[in-house]
Amino acid sequence: MRICVIGAGYVGLVTAACFAEMGNQVICLERDAQRVARLRRGDVPIHEPGLEPMVRAHLASGDLQFTSGWNEALRGVEVVFIAVGTPSGEDGSADLSHVLAVAEALGQQLQQRCVVVDKSTVPVGTAERVSRCIDAGLRQRGKTFSVALASNPEFLKEGVAIADFMRPDRVIIGCDDEDAQECLRRLYAPFLRNHERLLCMGVRAAEFSKYAANAFLATKISFINEMASLCARLDVDIEEVRRGIGSDTRIGTHFIYAGCGYGGSCFPKDVRALIRTAEQEGVEPSILRAVEARNALQKTLLFQAVREHFSGYMQGRVVAIWGLAFKPGTDDIREAPSLVLIDALLAAGVRVQACDPVATSAVAGRYATALAAGQLRLGESPYQAVEGADALVLVTEWKQFRQPDFLRVRGLMRMPVLFDGRNIYDSQQLSEAGFLYRGIGRPAAGDCKQSAA
Ligand SMILES: NC(=O)c1ccc[n+]([C@@H]2O[C@H](COP(=O)([O-])OP(=O)(O)OC[C@H]3O[C@@H](n4cnc5c(N)ncnc54)[C@H](O)[C@@H]3O)[C@@H](O)[C@H]2O)c1
Repeated sequence: MRICVIGAGYVGLVTAACFAEMGNQVICLERDAQRVARLRRGDVPIHEPGLEPMVRAHLASGDLQFTSGWNEALRGVEVVFIAVGTPSGEDGSADLSHVLAVAEALGQQLQQRCVVVDKSTVPVGTAERVSRCIDAGLRQRGKTFSVALASNPEFLKEGVAIADFMRPDRVIIGCDDEDAQECLRRLYAPFLRNHERLLCMGVRAAEFSKYAANAFLATKISFINEMASLCARLDVDIEEVRRGIGSDTRIGTHFIYAGCGYGGSCFPKDVRALIRTAEQEGVEPSILRAVEARNALQKTLLFQAVREHFSGYMQGRVVAIWGLAFKPGTDDIREAPSLVLIDALLAAGVRVQACDPVATSAVAGRYATALAAGQLRLGESPYQAVEGADALVLVTEWKQFRQPDFLRVRGLMRMPVLFDGRNIYDSQQLSEAGFLYRGIGRPAAGDCKQSAA
């Protein structure tokens, strides 16, 4: 099939590469000309494991192309995927300006009927708006055809996006047009060979499903984080509780890990957008508000714990941070807990030495002044980052940080104090290695009585 994917970001690039992998002819339209130039050279501007070799292979075979020209992108196209960003607007609602700009361009540029699929996360009713906008453009140009609109929300996880796309838990198609539904069924069939995981539903239900899924996952995280705070007060280890409840199949083991809060390009903005939708519809989103408030609080806990440890005397301290990306496997730092921590540490006069396997350049762009002033250093290795540090904070649980040589770490630090923002370390082992250990919702190990949360 000839497919056009609009937007060469995390979702658009993975979608384009994976459809090319299944033998489709894919052209990816991106408005950022520099990004297009890089992609044409096979230089993938984001970190997503497995993506670059796939892009290079299909660039070489000619099955995947990149352009910023609408004419070229839409020539003979059967399916157009919209995969542009929908960031938070000022009032928390989803900013649809990119999606609507694409709809307008499609109305001005399309030469033939095709299926237009919205893959961006958008509020209920957006597909209808997009459809109206495209049709208005087509009518203005005297065209007699219309497009078939479908909603196909994306559920991939950054860091394992290729695997998620190639073997999805489910594919949701929201579409009222039977031919379009059949077209998408055929397109996704190779990804769903093992068993039927294609769920067809109304367009509005598909749009809503994505928000409900993200809001539910965010709720699980905020719930366990609240339990962790309670555990900290009750001298209970949340990690034991996690195992205790996760073994119940009704609860399950996923998304019940206590930590320093969720970030990324989806959960925070999608929860905010759903709150805004609820407000507009006169429904009090009490659970969603609590989820958001708990997460905002959770992101501050590591700083609070560090400050408490130093009894408020922060000026001139050196704090090492391991992990900057909002989660392992990606260079995405959008709404990452690390940023909240760095901001607070810098404001308190602390010198920060941070490292991350792939996200340091994204962070460097945000903290040019602190870098120039030497208040922030982005270390090359975990060991360089801890040199002379008064405390180490683990923020992102990259595999590289899971089993360090703790004796070496201790030798490099001025004081062996470790704040574990993801509860990945064995507190007993750390205490035996001479560290003062504090996790999230765990009894402290070493000579400190309180835990971080
Ligand atoms: N990142 C994820 O893990 C993820 C997962 C599921 C769903 N989503 C949703 O998918 C959508 C895209 O997210 P993303 O993370 O890929 O965004 P992104 O910001 O990484 O990429 C969006 C891309 O679209 C381009 N773009 C914007 N307007 C354009 C236009 N008019 N024409 C051509 N290109 C244009 C931008 O330049 C950018 O490269 C969002 O709605 C998001 O909520 C994201």
